[in-house]
Amino acid sequence: MNQKFYQKTCPNLQTIVRSVVSEALATEARMGASLLRLFFHDCFVQGCDASILLDDTPTFTGEKTALPNINSVRGYEVIDAIKSQVEASCPRTVSCADIVALAARDSVNLLGGPTWNVVLGRKDAQTASLSLANSDLPGPGSSLSTLISMFAAKGLSPQDMAVLSGAHTIGQSRCFLFRDRIYNDININASFAALRQQTCPLSGGDSNLAPIDVQSPVTFDNSFYVNLVNKQGLFHSDQELFNGGSLDSLVAQFSKDQAAFFSAFAKSMVRLGAINTLTGKNGEIRLNCRTIN
Ligand code: HEM
Repeated sequence: MNQKFYQKTCPNLQTIVRSVVSEALATEARMGASLLRLFFHDCFVQGCDASILLDDTPTFTGEKTALPNINSVRGYEVIDAIKSQVEASCPRTVSCADIVALAARDSVNLLGGPTWNVVLGRKDAQTASLSLANSDLPGPGSSLSTLISMFAAKGLSPQDMAVLSGAHTIGQSRCFLFRDRIYNDININASFAALRQQTCPLSGGDSNLAPIDVQSPVTFDNSFYVNLVNKQGLFHSDQELFNGGSLDSLVAQFSKDQAAFFSAFAKSMVRLGAINTLTGKNGEIRLNCRTIN
């Protein structure tokens, strides 16, 4: 695996990915958030192997119906659009897993965040796991110790966890995932809770959307950390990062130093992208990201 993996075999790869992502974001800026999350949900389940992209069939069960993914993960069509242009330019060469990693990087950068070199050469899985998709992704009610141990299980440090959580500077969440937080939690700013209660009632409205970052939901910046310091984290799990625990000082630092957050985010994304990759003779280059060859 290296940054120049496709330099000779698919020299236009990075230009194609960036242009398709850029078009998608021009239509809907939120898609950048969705593509970033798609990469996280791919990497945490079996590794960064595009297992999340496999469609269910009568004889195959994939990850799309897992609780953290169903009616939630978005961006599959954008990956399809990239893949079809890449296949036209360099057939049977580039994995879907690498396309997901590049699309996440470009999404962050196009919304104002940092860029980094993506290490390439992942292969695509010939399997998927509904049960791992249900067990290995953290939920919004998680405690700090649960978050730390779920990331440790993937070889990521508590610092990586706090840094990668900064992804919640972009995107939206459905009401039922933060209802407990805005009605029953402590350590929440009262006017922020009241604001969110306006569109997320105690009962009903489960799928109503709210921005995860109250300040700038389509700009990748450090405001996630400013929100935490102000007790304006939308998820209980996010506010756990600034609740008198071991990561408080890092959160406080990032809230004041965007450059420090950006450089840490780039490094942690490279580590996220290295989880359990299939390389060499393992795995395949899928022709269609939704099906095994
Ligand atoms: C630390 C543990 C994490 C928890 C508990 C968590 C939880 C959640 C939840 C509950 C949602 C809303 C989903 C919905 O409405 O259906 C969400 C959205 C999102 N998450 Fe996370 N997440 C975590 C870490 C991450 C990481 C590491 C990334 C990326 C590096 C990430 C990126 C995103 C993005 C960008 C969205 C918005 C997606 C969109 O608008 O389509 N999250 N997350």
